[in-house]
Amino acid sequence: HMIDKGNYRHFMEKEIYDQPEAISDTLGHYINFSDNQVVAAWRDTVFTNVQSLAISACGTAYLAGLIGKYWFEHYARLPVEIDVASEFRYREIPFSPQVAALFISQSGETADTLACLRYCKEHGLKTGAVVNTPESTIARESDTVFPILAGPEIGVASTKAFTCQLAVLAALAVAAGRARGTLTEKEEQTLVARLAEMPRVIGQVLNSIQPRIELLSRELAKCRAVLYLGRGTSFPLAMEGALKLKEISYIHAQGYAAGELKHGPIALIDENMPVIVIAPHDRFFDKTASNMQEVAARGGRIILITDEKGARALKLDTMQTIVLPNVDEIIAPMIFSLPVQLLAYHTAVFAGTDVDQPRNLAKSVTVE
Ligand code: G6P
Repeated sequence: HMIDKGNYRHFMEKEIYDQPEAISDTLGHYINFSDNQVVAAWRDTVFTNVQSLAISACGTAYLAGLIGKYWFEHYARLPVEIDVASEFRYREIPFSPQVAALFISQSGETADTLACLRYCKEHGLKTGAVVNTPESTIARESDTVFPILAGPEIGVASTKAFTCQLAVLAALAVAAGRARGTLTEKEEQTLVARLAEMPRVIGQVLNSIQPRIELLSRELAKCRAVLYLGRGTSFPLAMEGALKLKEISYIHAQGYAAGELKHGPIALIDENMPVIVIAPHDRFFDKTASNMQEVAARGGRIILITDEKGARALKLDTMQTIVLPNVDEIIAPMIFSLPVQLLAYHTAVFAGTDVDQPRNLAKSVTVE
């Protein structure tokens, strides 16, 4: 590769630490800092007249889309239909002309995502692609390109492309909210100011959590299975945490909506299976805390990833708590991605796997 790892052991590690700069490049493209407004192609066109969005993507990009769905629905009251590309393309979704289709892809070459793009174009939908590779097929064939600008990503497990995809989706959700009149100018400025804090907060978190994550990873590397739980935007993040861990450490992991705990995974809880709970002190915190009680009551070992407010509010013993700074709801998913990425990374290092080139996986899947 032309790009080198610098002082890092793996590309994945380098790409995790690239994030303050990468996010700042992404924000630079979508934000006008002189008036704290979002600048984005669909703001005064597509977003003013669509009735819903249809998102399709694969792997980590799909999980970014799932978080985006919460944002479009919350900030813009714009309904979102989302599926993994390999299902979306065969589902025979009854489209109306007021649907705009959004595709998310780091490589811009994923076969199923490209097939969804072509399928939506055949159905006459407006198409937009959130892509990291500007010269890719998906970028070339879609009506509008929303660049991710994360820079080249070499590690098979996506890290900076994921958080930068989230930054693009958050900015688009705010733009859609303004276009649809669900956000005022003042609210937009406040949200944009929060987004603009990300590079600094990401840098601060990356500099402080590593020692604790390493301790924890040494233990995780000995486990056979790990359960991740979260609610709201932390639910897709729980799935992303599980995906990352299984991809590079080969430890079985599953991400679940915290509220679904009692509908199945609770049967697995014992002292051998760590439960990683992602819970910022948001409007869901109390509900997730009661799920933690249920885990604790069954002897489960809880690893809690929360913020300062959450750590103070919790009245329960965890095996380990990772405390992040209190941040606004709109940037929490990007900030909470950091411990999730580092946990997978260090666990894989302890497990001794090939972190950047895990077995059986490809960076870009160009076959169906
Ligand atoms: C592969 C990669 C993942 C990626 C997914 C989608 O599975 O290993 O890291 O999330 O493809 O790739 P894309 O390039 O479309 O984002």
